[in-house]
Amino acid sequence: MNYGPLVFLAAFFALASSWCGFVLTPQLQIGRLQQTNMLGGVAMSYPVARPGLAQQGLEVYRANGCAYCHSQQVGQSGTVVDITLTDAGTNQAATVAALLNLANASANQTTVLTPLPALKLGDSDSAGTNLLSGLPKAFLRSSSPKDANAAVKALNATSAKAQAWIVPVGPDLARGWGRRRTVAEDFLFDSLVMPGSQRVGPDLADVGTRLPDANWHLLHLYAPQFQVKGSIMPPYRFLFEPRKAGRRPSPDALVLPGDLAPPKGYEVVPTQAAKALAAYLISLHADAPLFVAPLTVASAPAASPTNSPAASETTTTNAVAAPAPAK
Ligand code: HEC
Repeated sequence: MNYGPLVFLAAFFALASSWCGFVLTPQLQIGRLQQTNMLGGVAMSYPVARPGLAQQGLEVYRANGCAYCHSQQVGQSGTVVDITLTDAGTNQAATVAALLNLANASANQTTVLTPLPALKLGDSDSAGTNLLSGLPKAFLRSSSPKDANAAVKALNATSAKAQAWIVPVGPDLARGWGRRRTVAEDFLFDSLVMPGSQRVGPDLADVGTRLPDANWHLLHLYAPQFQVKGSIMPPYRFLFEPRKAGRRPSPDALVLPGDLAPPKGYEVVPTQAAKALAAYLISLHADAPLFVAPLTVASAPAASPTNSPAASETTTTNAVAAPAPAK
């Protein structure tokens, strides 16, 4: 029997299905991604292209294999809703009573609300002044938007102002590696993406928020053990240039203590590559509230009309109505 056509069909099927899986499906899912708007009344497009120097830094990041030890993808296991007081109101005793009421209701399991550490029950005797200081503060957490909205209503019935804030949760977020999960949009303007796969070091998707100082990064690249005790990250000294100090030291020269300091009359200056890499690192953020990965960010206190209580309340309700991100 002639197996030719059968072999051809089998090979065709194998190649076609892998093409569909590796080329067609990703193209359909994320091939037409565009800039989008941030959520929560922030009139800003996301993402914006990185500054030129930071774009060069991506090449340096790639060339030096940083992605072998660092990922840039924050995971998230779900979202919860935090009931946050933004204003204690005039009748603080009533506000505290309402808060404790809600906490008790959850203890009696009539609602799914978990008291957060900010809501220490013993504090009610001091008329709640401790409890209500340092607002906005989240007091209760709920996995159900319905319960959260009911609680917000109960609190707003006193003179206080409460809001339901969407908070992404998960192990990566608990480590402080970002505010929300990484989404494809985050890489929209990077011609090469470096999501990485191993985590010998921390995830860097949000390192620009965590460590916003380019100088910190330069010193860390030159001497990781100096910046972080016991660091096992290799130093990248070849990104720096030791040179004879002129009459006036270079403004870029690293300030190095003790053993690290260069011999007298010399200075250590970052090369263009090091500066670009530092600019790239501080351009990494994973904290923009997006439709695909919603979270509530604190709005600046009452500056513009959009921040009036009514307006922020509607934005929050919209945000709660947004679809929960894929698990
Ligand atoms: C051999 C693995 C390894 C490589 C390669 C590596 N790192 Fe690291 N990195 C680490 C470890 C481990 C830490 C945690 C200790 C520390 O902060 O120094 C770290 C920490 C960091 C931090 C601080 C992050 C934080 O949240 O504290 C930054 C920024 C960083 N690395 C950037 C880089 C860059 C840029 C490169 C490439 C030039 C690079 N790393 C290459 C292992 C590595």
